[in-house]
Amino acid sequence: MLPVAVVISGRGSNMEAIARASLSAGSRFRVVRVIADRDSAGGLARAAALGIPVGVVPVKRYADRAAFDAALAAEIESSGAQLVALAGFMRILSAEFVQRFEGRLLNIHPSLLPLYKGLDTHARALAAGDTHHGASVHYVTAELDGGPVIMQGRLRIRPGETPEAVSARVHTLEHIIYPHVCSLIAAGRVECRQGSVYFDGAPLAAPLIEENDAAA
Ligand code: GRF
Repeated sequence: MLPVAVVISGRGSNMEAIARASLSAGSRFRVVRVIADRDSAGGLARAAALGIPVGVVPVKRYADRAAFDAALAAEIESSGAQLVALAGFMRILSAEFVQRFEGRLLNIHPSLLPLYKGLDTHARALAAGDTHHGASVHYVTAELDGGPVIMQGRLRIRPGETPEAVSARVHTLEHIIYPHVCSLIAAGRVECRQGSVYFDGAPLAAPLIEENDAAA
């Protein structure tokens, strides 16, 4: 059973999707702790309701990023997690932190990376007139939103669709692909070797794709 820590800042819907999958029959991973950087994160209550241990590393308590990152790393390590899933975690982590968890640190980003790193991804995809949009699960490297992508959920943008509407549909896809990637890693089918993704023992030439235009 692969122990997983999920790190959040907000409502934690991806965390809940991962946690629920981990509690389902036959899962090979288990969420051992949900950690937030603020005690107001809505996801903490969701996690507690599922019986998952929670931890808070309050960002305000630390003088600088290095001190916060060290406390976060200690909290993760005390949980015994071997995989760390950032899920709506709104802070940039130091190179030291990323290096410490290299190859064991995942993030989900609401765009088809390498498109639209950073914020406001839905509005930017619509403004560009893109035909498709989605979300990416990737290993975290020191480059923001720049690590190797494992899986993408992709949907077709509907005529006249608003950023809010497409965001809701992307979220539905996120809840499919993030637990799926955790399962693939727990099963030993996906791994990170020297900064590259391997799938079933071979380098992954392009991200795995989950197409789902119906995502509601
Ligand atoms: C998601 O859209 C994810 O792609 C981004 O932050 C959001 C988190 O949402 N990194 P939630 O807290 O999981 O509901």
